[in-house]
Amino acid sequence: MIMARLFDHAHILELAEYASVPVINGLTDYNHPVQIMADILTIWEHRGHLDDLKIVYVGDGNNVAHSWFRLAARLPFHLVCACPEEFSPDFETVELAKDAGLSTVEISHDPKTAVNGADIVYTDVWASMGQEEELEERIKRFQGFQVNDELMAATGKKSNFMHPLPAKRGIEATDSVLDSNAQIIFDEAENRMHVQNAIMLKMMNW
Ligand code: NVA
Repeated sequence: MIMARLFDHAHILELAEYASVPVINGLTDYNHPVQIMADILTIWEHRGHLDDLKIVYVGDGNNVAHSWFRLAARLPFHLVCACPEEFSPDFETVELAKDAGLSTVEISHDPKTAVNGADIVYTDVWASMGQEEELEERIKRFQGFQVNDELMAATGKKSNFMHPLPAKRGIEATDSVLDSNAQIIFDEAENRMHVQNAIMLKMMNW
């Protein structure tokens, strides 16, 4: 089997089309399915169930955000993506999640209101791989979208914060939020290995 991490999503589709072995998407510029499988496993482990789950993704409507929407088409939960308007996720992917009719799916441009009642506040880097040179400009555009203690307090409940790592400390999330949620974040990172092992076993029909 091949696990490939590529920039252009079209390339993973092309690889899968021509490969004679299973191809696993290890991240593209469109989505990050193995990450989201690790994330939902981690949430299940920490809460013991996935009932009445509200997840608020704050930040860039990027590959990880797209995978959250695609998961919302498979499992029922309440997903809110709070992003600056110009960094909204792909429209068709949001529609796909809505059309599946399983989850409540919303886009917001107001993080403080969006996080109200969140069980999980989730963010990712503001500049993904390949966009590093845009970081300075993006920092200006993402003002108000940093996950800090004030935003976590706006959930109004005891919520967890998650991040797919590596994080840019003090940019998309503060040290205080990252450090106080280190346990779940490191479980999340470890679970990438476990879900990827499970995917490989499934692909091998074991
Ligand atoms: N959006 C990030 C995810 C890293 C796990 C990136 O593509 O770089």
